[in-house]
Amino acid sequence: MKNELKNLRAEILEAIEGVSDLSGLEDLRVKYLGRKGTLPNLLKGLKGLADDARKEAGAFANEVKLSVDEAFSALQIDLEAKSRAEAFAEAHIDITRPGITPDIGHLHLTTQAIEEIKTIFSRLGFVQVRHPEIDWDHYAFGALNFPEDHPARDDWETFFIDDAGKAAEGENGKIVLTPHTSNGQVREMERSELPIRMMNINKTYRRQVSARHLPMFHQFEGLLIDKDVSIADLLGTFDFFVKQFFGPERKTRLRPHHFRFTEPSFELDVSCDVCAGTGMRENGLKCKLCKVGWLELGGAGMVHPNVLRAGGIDPDVYSGFAFGWGVERTMMMKGGINIPDIRVMYQNDMRFLEQF
Ligand code: DAH
Repeated sequence: MKNELKNLRAEILEAIEGVSDLSGLEDLRVKYLGRKGTLPNLLKGLKGLADDARKEAGAFANEVKLSVDEAFSALQIDLEAKSRAEAFAEAHIDITRPGITPDIGHLHLTTQAIEEIKTIFSRLGFVQVRHPEIDWDHYAFGALNFPEDHPARDDWETFFIDDAGKAAEGENGKIVLTPHTSNGQVREMERSELPIRMMNINKTYRRQVSARHLPMFHQFEGLLIDKDVSIADLLGTFDFFVKQFFGPERKTRLRPHHFRFTEPSFELDVSCDVCAGTGMRENGLKCKLCKVGWLELGGAGMVHPNVLRAGGIDPDVYSGFAFGWGVERTMMMKGGINIPDIRVMYQNDMRFLEQF
């Protein structure tokens, strides 16, 4: 028995030497020390020995067991340390590696233009307000001197809100998606103290989609009401804006026009950037962008007395001017940006947006 134990010990210690990982070690433990393992099996033989021999063999067996256990534990500690070191090496973060740059966006070009327009007019004391984008016919048309059911409403290609197929109506008429920001004029007169200098920038809606028209676009509406306001004030204001926004070399001119809510009414033109206001290119051909040397910015005029009255203001004491221009159009006129299809602005195509 003693010899068998000795041999077994030698075998186990040798087998252990060849183990290089924890699972291999566990396999050996089961093989030699497990319930059905070699050592317990051998020890079953103790029972059949005479008392003395059993005692001696038993004591020796204990010794063997202790030394083998010790060898197992020592190796186990080593292997555990090794596997922790490996796991750490794998999970280790190399702080010297370059990071992943997060995508940083920027404001949409329309928002950029709105910010710039707002800032320029704020230097002249125009305060930014926001009047409704969905409003009563009264504010969008009626109070702006449009006669009841006048076809002029069609000029603005208006969307009317309907309620189960019928136009929704209240005491102020039908409900419209505002086709222009001019609805803010009488609302501002009702809301504010005099004098008024407001800038209403909002989304506007019209029933038209094409390379040059969007069903949703933006306008900025200026309104100034005070005593003794004249066309000269209007011109000075436009000149200031145009030179700040488009550049000091750009010129302005007024062309007579007609709007129901202004008298007199004008269209404001800005000299073309591409041909420097001449209408001709250096190669002797007509300027493709403007053809005539001027680009049309938008409508303006002296506020009609009926509109002042609708806002509760006495036209014999007060006068004012107003203007309403498209943000997208104004932005595109800057530096002669000629976008062949205006719809690209709201298609969220990064290749386009990233250029601004
Ligand atoms: N609301 C007009 C439009 O959308 C533009 C306009 C013209 C606004 C004259 C004004 C104005 O304030 O005075 O076409």
